[in-house]
Amino acid sequence: MKWFLLPLVVVLSFSSCKEAPSNAVTIPVQGLVTENAMVVSARKEASAIGVEILKKGGNAFDAMVATEMALAVTYPYAGNLGGGGFMVYRTQFGEIGSLDYREKAPLGAYRDMYLDEDGNYKSDSSKYGGLAVGVPGTIAGIFAVHEKFGSLPIEELLTPVVELARKGFAVTQFQVKRLEKFGPLFKEVNHQNSIYTKSYQVGDTIKNNALANTLQRIIDHGRYEFYHGETAQKLIAFVQSNNGILTMADLEAYDVVWRDPLVFSYKDLKIISMAPPSSGGICLAQILKMIEPYNLDSLGFQSLESIQVMVEAERRAYADRSYFLGDPDFVEIPLEELLNATYLENRMQDFSFEKATPSNAISHGTVVPHESDETTHYSIVDTFGNAIAVTTTLNGAYGSKLYSNELGFFLNNEMDDFSAKPGEPNMYGLVGGEANAIAPQKRMLSSMTPTLIEKDGQFWMSVGSPGGSTIITSVLQTILNVYEYNMTMQEAVNAPRFHHQWLPDQITFEPDSFETSLINALEKKGYSTEQNNTVITSKVNAILALPNGRLEGGADRRGDDTSVGY
Ligand code: GLY
Repeated sequence: MKWFLLPLVVVLSFSSCKEAPSNAVTIPVQGLVTENAMVVSARKEASAIGVEILKKGGNAFDAMVATEMALAVTYPYAGNLGGGGFMVYRTQFGEIGSLDYREKAPLGAYRDMYLDEDGNYKSDSSKYGGLAVGVPGTIAGIFAVHEKFGSLPIEELLTPVVELARKGFAVTQFQVKRLEKFGPLFKEVNHQNSIYTKSYQVGDTIKNNALANTLQRIIDHGRYEFYHGETAQKLIAFVQSNNGILTMADLEAYDVVWRDPLVFSYKDLKIISMAPPSSGGICLAQILKMIEPYNLDSLGFQSLESIQVMVEAERRAYADRSYFLGDPDFVEIPLEELLNATYLENRMQDFSFEKATPSNAISHGTVVPHESDETTHYSIVDTFGNAIAVTTTLNGAYGSKLYSNELGFFLNNEMDDFSAKPGEPNMYGLVGGEANAIAPQKRMLSSMTPTLIEKDGQFWMSVGSPGGSTIITSVLQTILNVYEYNMTMQEAVNAPRFHHQWLPDQITFEPDSFETSLINALEKKGYSTEQNNTVITSKVNAILALPNGRLEGGADRRGDDTSVGY
């Protein structure tokens, strides 16, 4: 049995002889279990605000509006007004759908905008400052959700968030460390101080009156305020004065898209995930379909063989991702072919338990198309039976680091999710292709994988994660941990993770979590492995419907993530 499955007292007694993460003592075996409803997000305050809305009679969609904005207040690392995201829903009546409120490239964007005169990629310019900023979609997203599904007035949903921003929130240990790390970069990018360049101790309060004022104007004037009104004008002036190319026309032209989610089966599960412009759903589907014929359960949890099967499927799916995927409003994506059973079976035909398949032997599959990071995830289930999975992002930690003192929020660096130079890796090391080249008004390819799962026709799980390219494999492992290995929701989230993404050709392991003998065995079979400086930044937040009808939350131990419910 693994350390993260053991009751607290046993973990304590083991902690001196096995290298477990230092916060192992706080890990419960089962997450919060509640009768009616739950919100699991990256901050206690955001989950609590969502639950207050639910207690007032609001539904999951009302709670989304409040939770999303409360994350922008308390978790500026990824929670945002200046970014975008995806929401997958399943209503109490079993209707499913998804909302794409991903950022778009500005009208003035062009394919080679991050290349110098010699064609070299100027990687800093797609990561830091105004030029990295895509047209934000989050405010349009929450208003679209509210218009379609909301039941309480916007004022009732956002006033508690305004109060939170004015009253302030307590700084946690994780935040102290992050602000220490990024504060100097904020100063460098913005050429001025802000509330986030100050030095904080754990328990200090951060108040954000500028953000409270912005949110109050949004309450007063609605979506218009952000895309046409005073906030829009201030935002454009600010981005342009920082070398950005966003214009009022970009904001005015922005709109969300209600998209069909990507739906597929894994054994008796019906999985509902995000379709392109996210690669999340399709990669998850390809990987699960490729591993379905192997009996992972009998191969054993994180055994040599089960890791081989998963890694080889991941390698192949990520190779396809690089080549075929982009914004479906701009490129033809051969979805049916990529998910075809024979195609996926053929993809795994050269897999052998004897030795690793080198990534340079794997290209994208030969399907013929038809003619013609930092991020955050929250899950909500309400008392009516509506369930949502939402992943929202600024891309990198605090996005482009560009922070408007006047408006109180950070701007995304989502432009880095395009392939600035096809073949060149982005900040997550993902190599992109032509399908994801920059074009005006195009949405950049994402890895965000907000996912809902039905079992026996009923809601079973809401799951998702931040973590750039590691999102997909973290969601994958969490689902398998519950389904194949009978873990509780919390155990599944706690379990150590590994990741392979085709290129670079290596398996990254969460540090100090896997036995040396296992790593050695993989290396003997030709796998390259990395356990130090690994990029597993995923923090899964999930909700599981238990057989007795209650809900269990899985809040990631790797951050301040918290389940709140009643
Ligand atoms: N910006 C991270 C993602 O969309 O995958």
